[in-house]
Amino acid sequence: MATWNLDPAVIHLNHGSFGATPVEVLALQSELRAQMESNPVRFMLRQYQPALETCRSELAGFVGADPDGLVFVPNATYGVNSVLRSVEDRLRPGDELVVTSQTYNACRNAVTATAARTGCSLVVADVPFPLSGPADVTEAVLGVVTPRTALVLLDHVTSPTAVINPIEEIIAALDPSVMVLVDGAHAPGMIDVDVAALGAAFYTANCHKWLCSPKGAAFLWVAEPYRDSAVAASVSHGYNDGWPGSGSRFHAQFDWTGTDDATARLCVARSLAVIGQHRSGGWAAVQAANHELVCAGRDLLIAALSIDAPAPAEMLGSIAAVPVPPEPQPSESIFDPLTTALHERWSIEVPVFAWPQSPQRLLRISAQQYNRLDDYHRLVDALTEELALG
Ligand SMILES: Cc1ncc(COP(=O)(O)O)c(C=O)c1O
Repeated sequence: MATWNLDPAVIHLNHGSFGATPVEVLALQSELRAQMESNPVRFMLRQYQPALETCRSELAGFVGADPDGLVFVPNATYGVNSVLRSVEDRLRPGDELVVTSQTYNACRNAVTATAARTGCSLVVADVPFPLSGPADVTEAVLGVVTPRTALVLLDHVTSPTAVINPIEEIIAALDPSVMVLVDGAHAPGMIDVDVAALGAAFYTANCHKWLCSPKGAAFLWVAEPYRDSAVAASVSHGYNDGWPGSGSRFHAQFDWTGTDDATARLCVARSLAVIGQHRSGGWAAVQAANHELVCAGRDLLIAALSIDAPAPAEMLGSIAAVPVPPEPQPSESIFDPLTTALHERWSIEVPVFAWPQSPQRLLRISAQQYNRLDDYHRLVDALTEELALG
C-alpha cells in the first residue's frame, strides 16, 4: 500500500492540479538528491544518463511508446512549447492552428503566440459543456477543419470540464497531413494510453499528475517523421554537440536542457512500480477504482445540486466537473470565493473554475487512492451550507 505525506487535516479533492507523490517515491528522490550533492559532477556526468535511460524505457513501455521517440520534459506546458517551436518551419502564413474552447489556457496561449509569430490563424472549435457524448466533441473539432488546417491541439482529458476527448476518432478522421499534438497532461495513470497506436504526430503528458511522480516529471513523444527536426523549448548542447550517452540527436535535444534538479524524472520508474503494486490488479485496478469513486462522488454532487449529469460517465476518468450556481459577486481574486471558503472554513481543497465565463462556474473533483467516499459527503455538506442548497 502506498502511503502519502498529505496533511490529514485537509480533504484533498484536487489530485488533478498538481498530483501527490507516495512517501516511498519521495524517499528515492531524497536519496538521489543526497547523491547529487555529495558529488555533483559524478551525478550529472556519470549517473544521470544511465538512470534516465532506465526511466525512459519503463515509461515508454507503460504508455505504449518506443523509447527512441520519447524524451523527458519538465511539464506538459514545456512539451507543448517544444512541439510548437519544432514545427514553426513547417507553418506558412494563413495556415490554421486549431484548439478547442476547452483547451488548457497555458497551452492555448502557446498556440496563440506561435500563430502571432508565424502569421497563422488561431481557430477555436466551440465544444459544448454539458455535453451529451463524444460525438459533440468530434463534430465541433471536425467542423472547423479546412484545407488550411496545419495543426490541431487536442487535450486527451480536459482540465476545467474534466472529460476524456474522443481523440482516436478525431485523429482517424483528419487528413494525415494535419499535425496532431495531443496534450495528455492528465491521461497516463488515469486511463490507458497507447501513444504509438493513436496516429498523432506528438503526444506530451505529465508524470507528476496521475503517475504520482515528483513535480517536474513529464514526457514528450514524437512520431518518427518529426524526430529529426524536433528541438526543446530550451536549446542547449544537444543542438550541435550531442550529449554524452544520449542515443540520438533527438534524445540529445531534450536529455540536457541546462543544469537542473533531474531527480523528479529519475523517480518515474519507482512511481510506476509503487502505484502499480498498490492494489492487486495493478494499474488497471487503480484506474478502475479511481473512476468508480469519482463517479460516486459526482452522483452525490448531482443529487445535492439537483442537476442532470453534465457528461456521460463513460467520458470520465478520475476527475469530474459539475456546474455550481453562479458567483454572486464578481471578485478580483484569482481564486473563486467558493474555493476560498471551502479551503478556509472546511479544509477542503477543490477547484472552482469560471466556465464558460464568470459568473458561471464549474467545480471539479478528483479521486485518487487516498480518497474515500466520505470525502465527497463532507464536500456536499460544505456546499449545502455555502451555497444554501436544499
Ligand atoms: C490539459 C492540461 N494541459 C496542460 C496542463 C499543464 O500542466 P503543467 O503545469 O504540468 O505543464 C494541465 C494542468 O493541469 C492540463 O490540465
